[in-house]
Amino acid sequence: MRNLRLQLRFLVPLVVILAAAAYFALPLMDRLTLRWFARDLNLRGSLVTNALSESIADALPDPKGRKLQALFSRATQDERLVAIGLCSADGRLLRSSAGFPKALTCAGAQQTASLPEPLMRIEGGPVHVGVHPVNAEAGTIGQLVLLQDLSFIERRSQDTRQYLVILIASIGVLIALVTMIVAQLSWRGWISGTRALLRGEGLIRPLSGSAPELEPLAADLRARLRELEDEYRRSQGPEAEWNPQRLQALLRTQLSGDQVIVVSNREPYIHELLHGAVVVRRPASGLVTAVEPVMRACSGTWIAHGSGSADRDVVDRNDRVELPPGQHEYLLRRLWLTPEEEQGYYFGFANEGMWPLCHVAHVRPVFRESDWQYYRAVNQRFADAVVAEAREDDPVVLVQDYHFALVPAMVREKLPRATIITFWHIPWPNPESFGICPWRREILQGMLGSTILGFHTRFHCKNFIETVDRYLEARIEHEHSTIQFQGVSTLVESYPISIEWPTAAETALWRPVPECRRRVLDRLHLPADQRLAVGIDRFDYTKGILERLHAVERMLEKYPEWLGRFTLVQVAAPSRSALEEYRAFRDRITVVTDRINQRFGTGGTLPILLLAEHHEHDAVNELYRAADACLVTSLHDGMNLVCKEFVAARDDERGVLILSRFAGAARELPEALIVNPYHVEDTADALHRALTMPEAEQRERMAALRTTVREFNVYRWAGRMLADAGRWRLRERIAERVQRHAGE
Ligand code: G6P
Repeated sequence: MRNLRLQLRFLVPLVVILAAAAYFALPLMDRLTLRWFARDLNLRGSLVTNALSESIADALPDPKGRKLQALFSRATQDERLVAIGLCSADGRLLRSSAGFPKALTCAGAQQTASLPEPLMRIEGGPVHVGVHPVNAEAGTIGQLVLLQDLSFIERRSQDTRQYLVILIASIGVLIALVTMIVAQLSWRGWISGTRALLRGEGLIRPLSGSAPELEPLAADLRARLRELEDEYRRSQGPEAEWNPQRLQALLRTQLSGDQVIVVSNREPYIHELLHGAVVVRRPASGLVTAVEPVMRACSGTWIAHGSGSADRDVVDRNDRVELPPGQHEYLLRRLWLTPEEEQGYYFGFANEGMWPLCHVAHVRPVFRESDWQYYRAVNQRFADAVVAEAREDDPVVLVQDYHFALVPAMVREKLPRATIITFWHIPWPNPESFGICPWRREILQGMLGSTILGFHTRFHCKNFIETVDRYLEARIEHEHSTIQFQGVSTLVESYPISIEWPTAAETALWRPVPECRRRVLDRLHLPADQRLAVGIDRFDYTKGILERLHAVERMLEKYPEWLGRFTLVQVAAPSRSALEEYRAFRDRITVVTDRINQRFGTGGTLPILLLAEHHEHDAVNELYRAADACLVTSLHDGMNLVCKEFVAARDDERGVLILSRFAGAARELPEALIVNPYHVEDTADALHRALTMPEAEQRERMAALRTTVREFNVYRWAGRMLADAGRWRLRERIAERVQRHAGE
């Protein structure tokens, strides 16, 4: 209907213009052709007169005029010559043929013949009037008046008129067609537009599905709203601190208290059966560390895989459990997976395919068709759970990580008005690397169901946008970092994730640093003056644990003064141990640790203590506070929260952070000692430098790091995303309203 209106709006003026052109052009053309023919007929008249002159001179003496009459009858047998009249030199009509108008005098004929359009209308139709001198041997003997038929001109003029109308109409249609094609191409972008036309899609319908004539208006509107937002932000001055209260206020105001639903694979609390009793465990997961405080502030529903051995024992009949244990701040809805589903979706596609694919850490991704099928099916199950948990048709859904690339589009299909914020906790590779995934298009399409797609860094956003550009036909607005695909607009933005900054109440419970040191050293049977570095990781090949061990070995070689005086405490929480790659990695680390310990262990003090078991938060915090240095040497990491936790733990402003430049956090924390973990020498030197760093420098660096992490905390991470979502919703609603009014 809209398209029809658009066409009419364009075509009606075009038709009017062409009709006006025809109206003025046709009489003009008639006149022009008449003049051309008059000239021809004059010439013809002269020829006829010349041919008849001698005969007229011969016939003129005949007193009865019979000869002349006969001559005229013969001449007017020519169908074009209607009548002839002979005028004397003094202007009298001497003789005329049949059909010569009685009213036509010689003077009248002379006058008409001198006009630019010498014609008159007689009974049989229009005739051309020509007056030509009759020259005989004796000189001019009179004037011959020739009336030649002009009706053929009218016939020709009619034909010409017809052709002209057809021509103008065809030109009109052509112009309309070309204009619509050009408009279409510019709406869609030249390349995608041409492709769409070749595919035979309509000329008018734009990709977004909205009214195309409103696109420029909508674009202006969006730009204006953005300017207003910028002005507003500037007027706010330096950012106020982000905390749970501010996040709650934002939810109430900008998202009008809408329901928040989180989807992640890993659950925030795992209930395990240990020696016949149920214990609660916090998993080692950066995602959980970041999202859990946000969830406590938002009090929504968290949907996750129930993976603990006692998980089923503590849920209600809707598979829900209130969390945190004993505090009831939000709901966890557990989803149960069969061993086959877990194998295919989690171990297979997510961790053998997507994880190495996105980290590009020299481990080949494995893609199996059966894993993909499970991945799709489990994504659908989680999407269905979101729909089932939604109380309204427009909840705020926070989809977490590479386990659920397909969930955004699946939820969007059932809840088109939902605000879907997807956060990708791991890196996004360049288009070439991503291109090896056999289901790359499906993954991208799934993710583009999101309203907002968040990555840790601008660099990952850029990689993602380039990947979409390479593999999908989507409209990309680089200036605003948005992608339009199949009628959905997705904002691709960087939101560096962080941790919850410890509250005064929490830090009040912490033991003083010297006490932490003493306890840790006692527990590990290390001398009281032993220098300590810590590494806290999951047992994962992306974390650079092997490179770290080599760096310790190299430091002991290069700076033997540390022999017997230095120990690296490496906590490596078991992770994804069902996978061969992970088991092999663990074995390798164990072997290398043993070798280095054998080489450099002195008098019972080992240079490396490998603690290959899960540690709860308090134990980890004690280690952070006891350490002289913290080593984060990831080969590739979306962000890495260990470094931020270390900084948060050091309220004494001591301790040195050694940080891989390949962790997203390196961009935010330049006061750390930034290293290239592949360069063993570099890391060994950094470790030595950390152990010898003067206290004043430690304090200076740590104070700067703490200011950054305190301000850029996890509430800011969530707050910025939710605020962007709020603004986005507002913009969409305004645009919807504008379109509705325009469509009425
Ligand atoms: C990374 C991922 C998280 C994941 C965590 C632990 O941080 O981004 O999604 O939860 O590793 O891995 P796991 O497989 O044990 O959940």
